[in-house]
Amino acid sequence: MAFPENFINELTERNDIVEVVSSYVRLSKKSGSNLFGLCPFHSEKTPSFSVSPDKQIYHCFGCGKGGGVINFIMEIENLSFPEAVEFLAKRAGLPLPEETNDRESRRRARMLELNRAAARFFYEQLSTPAGQAACDYMRKRQLSPSTARSFGIGFAPDTWSSLTEAMKAKGFTEKELAEAGLVRRGKSGGVYDTFRNRLMFPVIDVRGNVIGFSGRILGDGEPKYMNSPETLVFNKSRNLFALNLAKKSKCGYIILSEGNIDVASLHQAGFNSAVASLGTSLTPEQARLISRYTDQVIIAYDNDGAGIKAAQRAIGILEKLDLKVKVLRLEGAKDPDEFIKLKGPEAFRKLLEGSEDQIDYRLRAVTEKYDLSSDEDKVAFLKEATDLVARLPGAVERQVYAMRVASMAGVPENVVAEEAQRRRKRLLSSARKSQEREQSRVDRPPGGQRSLRYSDPASAAAEEGLIRLLYLEPALAKEPSLPPPELFSQENLGHIYRCILEKLRRGDSVSTATLGQDLSGEEMSLLVSLLQKPELLSRSRQSMLDYISKIKERREESSQSSDLRALANKYREKKGYEG
Ligand code: UTP
Ligand code: MN
Repeated sequence: MAFPENFINELTERNDIVEVVSSYVRLSKKSGSNLFGLCPFHSEKTPSFSVSPDKQIYHCFGCGKGGGVINFIMEIENLSFPEAVEFLAKRAGLPLPEETNDRESRRRARMLELNRAAARFFYEQLSTPAGQAACDYMRKRQLSPSTARSFGIGFAPDTWSSLTEAMKAKGFTEKELAEAGLVRRGKSGGVYDTFRNRLMFPVIDVRGNVIGFSGRILGDGEPKYMNSPETLVFNKSRNLFALNLAKKSKCGYIILSEGNIDVASLHQAGFNSAVASLGTSLTPEQARLISRYTDQVIIAYDNDGAGIKAAQRAIGILEKLDLKVKVLRLEGAKDPDEFIKLKGPEAFRKLLEGSEDQIDYRLRAVTEKYDLSSDEDKVAFLKEATDLVARLPGAVERQVYAMRVASMAGVPENVVAEEAQRRRKRLLSSARKSQEREQSRVDRPPGGQRSLRYSDPASAAAEEGLIRLLYLEPALAKEPSLPPPELFSQENLGHIYRCILEKLRRGDSVSTATLGQDLSGEEMSLLVSLLQKPELLSRSRQSMLDYISKIKERREESSQSSDLRALANKYREKKGYEG
C-alpha cells in the first residue's frame, strides 16, 4: 500500500463520514441509527442514500453505490485514491506522510514534468524543417498558428527516437518515458517513440498539467488517432479535452463535441467553451466534471448514426446530474468543424441560440425512425411518440407536444392527448409501486433479493457471509479450512475475499479505507451492501464453518454438472448442432 496503514486509519478517524457527506448532501435521521438523504450519484425524489455513523460507511439503496469516506470523496470530487487521500488530509489538517510524499507524488510530479517537456518538444518541432509537413496539414485544416499556441499543438517527427533522445538529454530515463507511455519497448528490449509523424494534441487537466497526448495522423490512414495509455497521471474517463480552456469561458454553457479537431476549430471561431471526451463515449465521471463548471451542456456531436446514438446516451448521463441539455442539429455538415468551414461562425451561433432542447431532439429521433406515409409505421410512431409525451413533467409541455405529434401523424389532437394521459397514469402508478418496493427495502435491510443476480445464489450467499464474518471478526482469518478464492462461484466476491484475507494474514487491518486501493468502485459498493445484512456474531465460528462447507459443496456440485454439460456439448458437436 502506498500510504501506511496507520496514516489511513488516522485519516478516516479525523474525517467523520457524516460531517464529510453533510457538506454535499442534506442528511436527516430517519430510522435506526442511519441518516438518509437524496443520493448525489443518481437523481431521485425520495431519499435512499444512507450513511451509517457507526460503521462509517455510505450506501445507496437506489443505485447501489457505497463505500467509506475516501470512496465518497473519490466519487463526488472525481479523484483517484491518492488524490482523495490528499484532499481529506488537507481537510483535516493532517500532514501527508513523508515517505508517500517522497515516492508516490514525486513519481507523479516527475511524470508531469516529463509530459510538459515532451509537449514543448513537440511544439518546437513546428518551426523546424521536419515540422513543415504538420504546418502544411494545419493550414489545410485551417488551424491558425495562434490556435496551435493556445492548445499547445505540436508535431512528433517521423523518426524512431527524436523524442527519446531529446528527453534523455534533459535527464529523463527510458523507464520514465515508458511509464509515461511516450515510448514503447521493442522485442530486443530497446525503446522507440510511441508517437511518430503525428499532429500532437496535449491533454491538459483543469489544473494545467499535461497529463497525456492524442496524436492525429497527417491526412488519411489508420489508426487516425493514437492516445497515451492510462498512466499514473492519465485517466481517459475522468478528463475532457480542452476543459482547461473551456472552464474559463464566460458563456454559461459547455459545448460537448467528439473530435479534437472540432474543438480546436470551435475555439478558433470564438466558441471557447468546447470540449471533447477523449475518444470514448461520455462517462458519468466526465459529466460530473462538467457539472462543476456549468449547468448547461450543448451537444454538438457528429452528424451520423454513431453521433446520434452517442448523443442519446450522453443526454441520459447528463440529465441525471440535473444539467440542462440541448442538442445541435448540424444540417448539411458531418461535424462542427465542417459546419463552421461551410457556413461560417455566424451560422453556428444561430444554431446554438436556436438549438433544440432534448425533447425536440428525441421527438425528431423518433420521427426519423419511421416512414409516416405507411400506416404500419404511423401506428408504431404514435406509440413511441405518445410515450415520450407521457413522460414530460409539465402539463403545458404535454399539451404542446401532443399537438405536435398529432399534426405529424395527421390524427386528431385529442387522440394523442388522451392516450398520453392514460399512459401517464400507468407510468405513475408503476413508478409508485417500484418506489414502495424500494422504500420497503430501505426500511428493512436488503434481503435475498439482490442475490437473484448471482449465477449460484446459494453459494454466493455463503460467500457473502464469509466475507462479512472476516470483515467483522478478523481473528477468524486464522481458520485453516478457509477455502481459496478460486472456489468462489462469483468472481467479484472472490476478489473481495482474496483482498481481505491477504490483508488479515499479513496482520493489516481491513476497512473500507484500507481496501480502497485494491477494490474497484463496484466491488466496494458490493462489499458495503453485503455488510448491511445481519450476521449473528455470537456464533460466528459455527456460521463460518457452515458457510465454508456450503461453498465447497456447491463447488463440487457445479463441477459435476459442468462435466455433464461438457459431455452434452461433445454430443451436440458430434451431431453437428450449432454451438
Ligand atoms: P473523429 O474521427 O471525429 O476525429 O474522432 P476528429 O478529431 O474530428 O478529426 P477529423 O475532423 O475527422 O479530422 C473523434 C475523436 O475520437 C478519438 C479522438 O479523440 C478524436 O478526436 N479517436 C478517433 C481515437 O481516439 N482514435 C481513433 O482512431 C479515432
Ligand atoms: Mn470529427
